[in-house]
Amino acid sequence: MVEKQITCLHTDYKVKEVLNIAVAKFKAAGVAQPINDARILLGHSLNKPNERFYGREGDVVKREHLDDFSSKILRRCKREPVSKIIGVKEFWSLDLLVSPYVLDPRPDSETLIEAAVKQFPDKNRILNILDLGTGSGCLLLAALQEWPHSYGLGIDIDSRCIEIAKINAKRNELDDRAKFQTGNWASNLDKKFDIILCNPPYIPANKIAKLNEEVRLYEPERALNGGQTGLDCYVELAAQFSNLLSADGLIFLEIGFGQKKQILDIMRSNSLKLIKIEKDLAQIDRCLILSHKHC
Ligand SMILES: C[S@@+](CC[C@H](N)C(=O)[O-])C[C@H]1O[C@@H](n2cnc3c(N)ncnc32)[C@H](O)[C@@H]1O
Repeated sequence: MVEKQITCLHTDYKVKEVLNIAVAKFKAAGVAQPINDARILLGHSLNKPNERFYGREGDVVKREHLDDFSSKILRRCKREPVSKIIGVKEFWSLDLLVSPYVLDPRPDSETLIEAAVKQFPDKNRILNILDLGTGSGCLLLAALQEWPHSYGLGIDIDSRCIEIAKINAKRNELDDRAKFQTGNWASNLDKKFDIILCNPPYIPANKIAKLNEEVRLYEPERALNGGQTGLDCYVELAAQFSNLLSADGLIFLEIGFGQKKQILDIMRSNSLKLIKIEKDLAQIDRCLILSHKHC
């Protein structure tokens, strides 16, 4: 047991020794990046979140920090993601709080922000931005960082996400321009927006059990489950999008692997037109850019 290996000793340890114990445990548990994870978690246990200990392997780790590191090692061995253990995750260079109730922001979703930046290159524009299914608030906050004169609203059905998103807005000094509220997509909303960002749940229900443990056990089911076909939320959203979009506004919609054709059919039958598809870093179609049909 990790506790025994680390905490039964009364002497202090060296960084190298505790890292080696953690790495061995992570390898045995099948953790993908054992060395990286061990260094990050040790930094957090020592209240030095940015320290990675390169060239400092001979430093002493005081006994008082070992219990915390030991418990972090155990959590990671149970495949809890590092971000959930340390409670923070970076997205678009924003430092965001995460919790068991919000999806960890993912690099794939940065494709939406990259796409929006290309479509709206004038950073001085005053844009009205909507983020549906905001989770941690990552998409809205990243957008507000890009357009410093713009304002935005993030909506999520889960009030616990809204609490985290509000904290993240404050944490990144964007709370004067970011509003967050609980809601079922955009029902009850009668405003128009220049940019609509949306990353809905899109995993088919019968595939959730096959996801890796990091996702299946530690991400909120409501952020993943897109119903039987994975497309339920797109059908609900498509019916609302047109009424929310300003005349020359654009929607940036995240999609899952292999869903492009079906989702495009849904959007087209709701008076929306495809402007462009952007791929993620793995060259997978990830973001549909949509406008009103008549544009
Ligand atoms: C895939 S997560 C995306 C979170 C965040 N935008 C991101 O990109 O990391 C989907 C989010 O949609 C929210 N959601 C699911 N159904 C919803 C609904 N009917 N109305 C509003 N939000 C919903 C979930 O709570 C979850 O936070």
